[in-house]
Amino acid sequence: MTVEQMKEKLSTMLTDHRYTHSMGVMETAVKLAHLYGVDPEKAQIAGLLHDCAKQIEKPVQLAMCDELGLELDDIKRENLALLHAELGAELAKIEFGVTDEDIIRAIRNHTLGRKNMSDLEKILYLSDMMEPNRREYEGLAGLRELSEKNLTEATLYGLELTIAHIERKGQVLHTQTMEAERFYRNLLHKEVYHMEPLSPFEKAKKATVLLDSKKAEQVSLLKVGELTILADYFVICTGNSSTQVKAMADFLEEEFEKIEISPISREGKQGGSWILLDYGDVIIHIFDRPTREFYSLDKLWDDAEEIDISEFIKEQ
Ligand SMILES: [Fe+2]
Ligand SMILES: [Fe+2]
Repeated sequence: MTVEQMKEKLSTMLTDHRYTHSMGVMETAVKLAHLYGVDPEKAQIAGLLHDCAKQIEKPVQLAMCDELGLELDDIKRENLALLHAELGAELAKIEFGVTDEDIIRAIRNHTLGRKNMSDLEKILYLSDMMEPNRREYEGLAGLRELSEKNLTEATLYGLELTIAHIERKGQVLHTQTMEAERFYRNLLHKEVYHMEPLSPFEKAKKATVLLDSKKAEQVSLLKVGELTILADYFVICTGNSSTQVKAMADFLEEEFEKIEISPISREGKQGGSWILLDYGDVIIHIFDRPTREFYSLDKLWDDAEEIDISEFIKEQ
């Protein structure tokens, strides 16, 4: 479907007011896309279609979401105004033939935001808040100004304004928005104070400290770089149960995510009794007790230098 055809179809689905808003979001999104090197065509489509489900009666939206098998949490079930984003993402696919995942994700998250948004997601989130037809509100002028200087800082500001607005109205704040705000607050703090990327050793050290803080047992750090091309370091540890194994892996992934380090892969082996997080130069193995004993990686990598971690675990 061409953009012109999309516009035509959309105009039959929205009120004039909502259609004008959508056009405004589209224009703002395209402008920001040019500014930040994002594909303007994607921004155009995302902006145009973001509210395509908005005019459907809310109970009908709920029924449609259920029919499509969308997972809805309690907050969404109670605040049906949130559904149009989720449903809109689906309608963009079904009714408008959009296949681009980034566009679909941007539409899905345009009301709540989320942590780790793509630039397109940030652009749509902001454009929706500040398109030219928006009624004046406190902070709008500042948001517009900031959006032209720094996309991520503007996103954080947008999230803050949204949270303040929700709190003023006494509505329930969705966890996804709270998490997003916390994520960008940490991230920007990090950009200011910890610009240096972690070396493989620092990464491995951080992993041992984090695992230790979660009561991991028998934490060992092996320097394997001279023995294999797989990684520079292995971190191996044991958890009490497969539940703890999973909790430790989740925790580690979350903490690294905060400093923008994502694993290349995460594998659950042996029915969750062994989780492997591959961070490229550092691989983390989390076992439950029997599986650790059975595979005894430490023995297998007997030739590797074992690094004494007692010092930096104590430092904490
Ligand atoms: Fe919306
Ligand atoms: Fe909107």
